[in-house]
Amino acid sequence: MAIKRPKGTEDLLPDGSPKLTLDVSAQAHARLIDTARRVLERAGAMRLDTPLFEEAELVQRGVGGSTDIVRKEMFTVYYFGDHGGYILRPEGTAGIVRAYLQNGLKQLPTPLKLWLTGPMFRAERQQRGRLRQFHQVDYEAIGSTDPLVDAEAIALMVEVVQALGLRGVRVKLGSIGDPEDREAYNAYLRQTFTPHIDRLSDDSRDRLERNPMRILDSKSEGDQVLMAELGVRPMLEFLGDEARAHFTAVQNHLKAWNVEYDLDPSIVRGLDYYRRTAWELHHEGVGAKSALGGGGRYDGLAEVLGGPAVPGIGWAFGVERLLLALEAEGHTVPANEGPLLYVAALDEEHVAHAATVAMQARAVARAEFAYRALKPAAAFRDAERRNARLVALIGSEEVADGTLSVKNLHTGTQTTVRVADLNALLAAQPDATPTPDQENA
Ligand code: HAM
Repeated sequence: MAIKRPKGTEDLLPDGSPKLTLDVSAQAHARLIDTARRVLERAGAMRLDTPLFEEAELVQRGVGGSTDIVRKEMFTVYYFGDHGGYILRPEGTAGIVRAYLQNGLKQLPTPLKLWLTGPMFRAERQQRGRLRQFHQVDYEAIGSTDPLVDAEAIALMVEVVQALGLRGVRVKLGSIGDPEDREAYNAYLRQTFTPHIDRLSDDSRDRLERNPMRILDSKSEGDQVLMAELGVRPMLEFLGDEARAHFTAVQNHLKAWNVEYDLDPSIVRGLDYYRRTAWELHHEGVGAKSALGGGGRYDGLAEVLGGPAVPGIGWAFGVERLLLALEAEGHTVPANEGPLLYVAALDEEHVAHAATVAMQARAVARAEFAYRALKPAAAFRDAERRNARLVALIGSEEVADGTLSVKNLHTGTQTTVRVADLNALLAAQPDATPTPDQENA
């Protein structure tokens, strides 16, 4: 049997693939990332990249030993003669903070805004929108505790969503307080749940020991019923004065900018490094249990990784989940543009000349050519299949004159063009596909 890709992974497919959907379109992925890049770079974020695998300890300490990610979902990397001390990164933040510390990025202006995109790896059970290799767009602002930085981060996340044309997104915003607030809350939760430990699911019994707050995030219906019966108080009621003032300031900034959000008094995030502001973005089309993205403040993370105290805040989107949400709102795979020019030779001896003409045309536009001689009707058919706009035919007469016979498939007009004038003609076409140089200009 032919070998298949591993469970929980996807191939990102080229345009025109049969059964192409938005979430696996390579072009849709690239466009989405480009839209996010534009929004983030306008706000001063700079791109960085970190390795796809890191020291296991970075993730164990950074993401935290009580999380599902570290306990159940890590991909360990083995190579010949090695002890398996590396893992594929499950998220971007721990690696970014490591890179910040290791490369002296503290020297750069504060807050330092960074963004990253790439694959992340978590050995989860596969479901719609839940993959083992998925992609994130990640934003971090490092070096400041100012609530203005929190509000800006949230506003930027909403701006990316708007730039993508997504409408039905809700921000669920909360605060998980400072470590001492969380300790008090966890003590309260232990006290509340311990008399009813028999009714908790196995997972939650485990959480009661390690990290009681995670019980609130339980997917077990029995747990949810119990919590409702007990009238469990939310984290927000346990905030200390400083965390409360910080949270109020964040909200005031968001209100001033008309950034809409729903207060979520008992938000729980699946990573241990968070403190104070925490939020998630949700969308109906992707399901209530699956956030489009999430983020929060992580002022203690740098120290946990062995560095000096450096505050930070950030967020990450799941690219596949954003695409599923766009699909649920009726967005489809963008149509393939096709080449502006398709060049075909009418005789075998001129095929190489046709190739030369097409390759020279690529200085100004997307151009393709036929690899063997074609009759005019076959050349037009081939050009139409490729969605080309102009077809240039080359026969003995054209070669002798230094010309091409060019037909515009959109208008049906046919003209003779000197090879020397071709690029000027192409450059003057409306909406000529920009070359990489022009795009970067
Ligand atoms: P996270 O909530 O674990 O946060 O992941 C962020 C987003 O990545 C999720 O909301 C979801 O869209 C996507 N995602 C996570 N797991 C999967 C999966 N198995 N399949 C598909 N998509 C997935 C973080 O990763 C933090 N590093 C965010 C952050 C940055 N906090 C501060 N800075």
